[in-house]
Amino acid sequence: MTGFAEKTSAEVVAASFAGTPDPRLKRIVTSLVEHLHAFVKDIEPTEAEWQRAVGFLTATGRMCDETRQEFVLLSDVLGVSMLVDAINHRKPAGATETTVLGPFHLVDSPPRELGADISLDHNGEPCVFAGRVSSSDGTPLPGALVDVWQANGAGFYDVQQPGVQPERNLRGLFTTDEDGRFWLRTVVPRYYPIPDDGPVGKLLAATGRHPNRPAHIHVIAGAEGHVPVTTHVFVEGSPYLDSDTVFGVKETLVRPVTTVDDPGRAARFGVGNPFRLLEFDVVLAEVPR
Ligand SMILES: [Fe+2]
Repeated sequence: MTGFAEKTSAEVVAASFAGTPDPRLKRIVTSLVEHLHAFVKDIEPTEAEWQRAVGFLTATGRMCDETRQEFVLLSDVLGVSMLVDAINHRKPAGATETTVLGPFHLVDSPPRELGADISLDHNGEPCVFAGRVSSSDGTPLPGALVDVWQANGAGFYDVQQPGVQPERNLRGLFTTDEDGRFWLRTVVPRYYPIPDDGPVGKLLAATGRHPNRPAHIHVIAGAEGHVPVTTHVFVEGSPYLDSDTVFGVKETLVRPVTTVDDPGRAARFGVGNPFRLLEFDVVLAEVPR
């Protein structure tokens, strides 16, 4: 006798996990059962609908390989990735805000010299990307690592176009100079659709949602004694800033691409004058003692 009935289902199944030795795992499976049963009782699926749900998750798993992570996309479009990010990064005011890692940080960024051009395919409008990494009290952080990756001017990452884009195109790992500064040459990224030829794309289409993300450059910055930040800088004026399909936009992360007419600065960046510039300063919180 299990006592399983429609009314008691969650309690009965949760009780079956009562002997879980790891208390955290016990809490997780118990809560999962409670919420899942409540969800099923709310929507009362037909058996055909339930099979369809299983088929959807099966297709999502089958879509995954080394360069495609459909479950991350599913988590992203349901806002769960951003929720997990928010729960785990309740930063002190002033520190740079976080956003999703996204599914394209699949390969290590190659270490590059400050000023290097990460655009190996020259697809897009040339642009200097520069900023300063500092501690929340304003102290510059020399030797900080700044990992950068982005889509090209056509809206694709290197890993999406093997054989079309050079390997490690638009990726670089930079170390800040003695003033905590970093600068590099790149192209202005374009907005792009998340890969929508799989189950997640079908879900978006069936629900009347678009698959697009506004233009952005991914940044992970870290320095000794500081909490690393995984974030993006979003390009001001980009389409979809107000409807990012993965809910990643935060107002504090939007920056303009400006036109700079300054021969001295152009020479320091190793570019012609005038030039396009995207500036993004990063503030890291100190590791709490
Ligand atoms: Fe991205």
